[in-house]
Amino acid sequence: MLRPITETFAASAFPDLLVGIEGPDDAAVYRLTDEIAIVQTVDFFPPVVDDPRQFGGIAAANAMSDVYAMGGEVLLALNIAAFPEDLDPAVIARVFHGGAEKVAEAGGVIAGGHTLYDAEPKYGLAVTGVVHPDRVIAKAGARAGDALVLTKPLGTGIVLTAARDGRDPAGHAAAAVVSMLALNRHASHLARDAGAHAMTDVTGFGLLGHADEVAARSDVRIVIDAARVPALPGALAYAALGIVTGGAARNRDGLADRVRLPAGLDAAVAHLLFDPQTSGGLLVALAPPAARAMVRRLHDDGLPGAVVGRVEAGAGVVVE
Ligand code: CO
Ligand code: CO
Repeated sequence: MLRPITETFAASAFPDLLVGIEGPDDAAVYRLTDEIAIVQTVDFFPPVVDDPRQFGGIAAANAMSDVYAMGGEVLLALNIAAFPEDLDPAVIARVFHGGAEKVAEAGGVIAGGHTLYDAEPKYGLAVTGVVHPDRVIAKAGARAGDALVLTKPLGTGIVLTAARDGRDPAGHAAAAVVSMLALNRHASHLARDAGAHAMTDVTGFGLLGHADEVAARSDVRIVIDAARVPALPGALAYAALGIVTGGAARNRDGLADRVRLPAGLDAAVAHLLFDPQTSGGLLVALAPPAARAMVRRLHDDGLPGAVVGRVEAGAGVVVE
């Protein structure tokens, strides 16, 4: 019998591991001193766009997002990459360049990495950040009465699938790329300043999947107001044409017991709410006046953001 990892590393034996695998969150948090904890995360994946530099930037923004989702600041990162042996070195250089310029934009530094050969290219980062041990913003912590802010529109899965299949005649993928390249850093600062109670980033499980994680970890119910959820240009139109990802169907199946959809919800809107996001926005629970102020500050600073729901006593996720 293999011993579960959670037994080998029982949380009680590691009091400085503030966030680990027993309460999975966006990133691990380990206290070094009363003033400093390190935030550690790793993420990498195959190309989501054809342009190598954009792919590198998106993968880096996505990897660093888990540090921002904990309320942390990025210090350094290591490249993790795999490329086919026959791939043009100039293409590989552009992937690394795209990642490097994103880490530089974040105020961090790339300090090394590891690359291997594989038939399918992959790129991402192992990221180390810091946070004050008392100011970690976890998925637990949302309170009944809170409002929910989402800091990027949804639909990267739908729009990228349309583009990949040659069904994006309007070129909406360009806006999706801009959104995926955007760092969650400033939004994280605003959430921290606004006194966020709970925060995560919206990625592969879609808005409803990540909302469910917050609901479960915080022991609350999350209510999403579907009419207020922002969509990327083209996302709803393409979803209405039947362009959706396999991931959205898996998300929907996996959440069947936890998510209640209203009768008659528009099918395209439902697809949007389950759509897996790459480098998606932050989902933040905070007091309603603070939420409204945060959205105003996001807009003042030229960033998207909207109040998309609220937190109630109960369990699961309800869409209305
Ligand atoms: Co995350
Ligand atoms: Co993550």
